[in-house]
Amino acid sequence: MTLRAVVKGVGHYLPDRVVPNAEFESLVDTSDEWIRSRSGIERRHFAAEGQTTSDLAARAARAALADAGLDPDDIDAVIVATSTADLTFPSAATMVQAALGMTRGFAFDVQAVCAGFVYGLANANALIVSGQARRVLVIGAETFSRLMDWTDRGTCVLFGDGAGALILEAAESAGSIDDRGILSVDLHSDGRHKNILYVDGGVSTGTTGHLRMEGREVFRHAVEKLAETAHAALDKIGLSGADVDWIVPHQANIRIIEATAKRMQVPMDRVVVTVQDHGNTSAASIPLALSVGRSRGQILPGNLVVTEAIGGGLAWGAVVLRW
Ligand code: UT7
Repeated sequence: MTLRAVVKGVGHYLPDRVVPNAEFESLVDTSDEWIRSRSGIERRHFAAEGQTTSDLAARAARAALADAGLDPDDIDAVIVATSTADLTFPSAATMVQAALGMTRGFAFDVQAVCAGFVYGLANANALIVSGQARRVLVIGAETFSRLMDWTDRGTCVLFGDGAGALILEAAESAGSIDDRGILSVDLHSDGRHKNILYVDGGVSTGTTGHLRMEGREVFRHAVEKLAETAHAALDKIGLSGADVDWIVPHQANIRIIEATAKRMQVPMDRVVVTVQDHGNTSAASIPLALSVGRSRGQILPGNLVVTEAIGGGLAWGAVVLRW
């Protein structure tokens, strides 16, 4: 028998303020039509003034705890995937720990930008299968609205704020791919691509900085690398696109989502899509889509789910799990 990391609960939180595409028409030279047709985005949520990433994360965490029927002190480890932590340190994860009233366990952040939640799942899985933690709360939370250059139409129309959370719990398994839990992980990064997606601020500049992106270049890498990593993760356990019930992709652009599904030979009615409502919420997009997909009745117990994401670094990867 081995240990496996099994989904115990899921939840999400979106800030109240919904910003439709039309609001950007008075800010930059753009149109609702351009944003919809080039990205699939129709609206996004923006955090209120003073509302931080750890606030959003704690709300998503409470929803996941309620879904799992667990108390905060039932959790051994909190992992927050984010590039927009409230402060340089301490981690957003320890702030969430305090906000939840946890008096035990350990907490840390994972920074792999849009691939952060996939990296977070990989870390949680490693903690669980090695016996270091029995229950891990993995959160993706972002306030990318705080990184926008509001004069750059190529980026400011694409991103949104939000948080999603998943609770994983150790369960005994004989090792069958029919058993529930995380089945396979495939991670990559290539730091040579720093200049196509980065924030031009940090401790080296003394400013928070703004997101800079060469959209077309990132798009090209995404279409190629996402299908590749998803295939690699499936291949490790002898499965293919035909076995997949749901792709739950990073929600950056509907055209990337469609191209990846096509390369995997998975029809779009087996892809959870939320990009129209959330925009690109970076590390939060996959757990948001998992939670929304679950509440829509799309993802059911026993379903084979593939998550895949790419972002700044470049960093990318995929996780296959049986829900
Ligand atoms: O989450 C991390 C990973 N990020 C991504 O995966 C994002 C990847 N990239 C993309 O999603 C797409 O490349 C974008 C949505 C960013 C852009 O779409 P595109 O089809 O690649 O457009 P483009 O960058 O090639 O730009 C086409 C035209 C340009 O005008 P010219 O040079 O052809 O005259 C842009 O200046 O569209 C122009 N443009 C806009 N026009 C109206 C760029 N942004 C806008 C805008 N409104 N907001």
